[in-house]
Amino acid sequence: MPRSELLRQVENARGLYCMLTDQIDRELLGAASNLVAVSTMAVGVDNIDLVACTEQGIPVGHTPGVLTEATADMAFALLLAAARRVGEGIDHVRNNEWGDWQPDLLLGADVSGSTIGIVGMGRIGASVARRAAGFDMDIVYTGPSSKPDVEAEFGAVRRDLSGLLAVSDHVVITALLNAETYHLINERTLGLMKPTAVLVNVARGPLVDTEALVAALRNGAIAAAGLDVTDPEPMRADHPLVALDNCVITPHLGSASHRTRIAMADMAARNLARALNGEPMEAQANG
Ligand code: DGY
Repeated sequence: MPRSELLRQVENARGLYCMLTDQIDRELLGAASNLVAVSTMAVGVDNIDLVACTEQGIPVGHTPGVLTEATADMAFALLLAAARRVGEGIDHVRNNEWGDWQPDLLLGADVSGSTIGIVGMGRIGASVARRAAGFDMDIVYTGPSSKPDVEAEFGAVRRDLSGLLAVSDHVVITALLNAETYHLINERTLGLMKPTAVLVNVARGPLVDTEALVAALRNGAIAAAGLDVTDPEPMRADHPLVALDNCVITPHLGSASHRTRIAMADMAARNLARALNGEPMEAQANG
């Protein structure tokens, strides 16, 4: 629904079922004098002013848990695609460039047996770690708190961001977007990564400074990137990032499996129905 329409229609609404592309801010809340509850069909709530909702006594529902595995699958799909140059290989065939087998054609980075750095060790980070363990990878991670379970199960080691970037062959971002993590990956931190490294982002686009990433991919500061989220989003086809052979971009598909999207839609509906009936939501992001 276009913003202007949403602002008009929300006036009489008691419940709002929204998408991650809807900005739920003070302007919208001001137009929604009858609003009792907000429910987003997403786990991320960076599009919602939680402080303003809480001030107005409005519970905000979201969908943690049901999309964890699908998103971790996508992180690995992008890691493998970017490291092993799957997109370039597909283009090579489509462009009819496939000639004799060559020992040095489209060589990429090893994933199995390498070191993965996971930025943000929440539910999705832990699921990425489980997959990485299956690929015999050493695992390092950053996050606001240590995760003894992940350390015990997968031998993961917690480091600060600089330490993680220095030792990781590949870096996967699963962290929340907030004021502290905005542009966490920037010119300086990209410079700490190995020139052979792949950067994967399945969290939120603004965690990465896009201009700095374009420069790093062009000048060889890092080898490749696999992005399911971008800044801006949607990313238009004429954006410089899209033209780069060493960047694989998918349009925010992390949770886009049939089963997962149905589970998200159902959970968001249950959250809203419960709040409207005066019951606690299954998962509330504020309070
Ligand atoms: C979320 O839920 O926050 C994802 O970005 C969409 O699946």
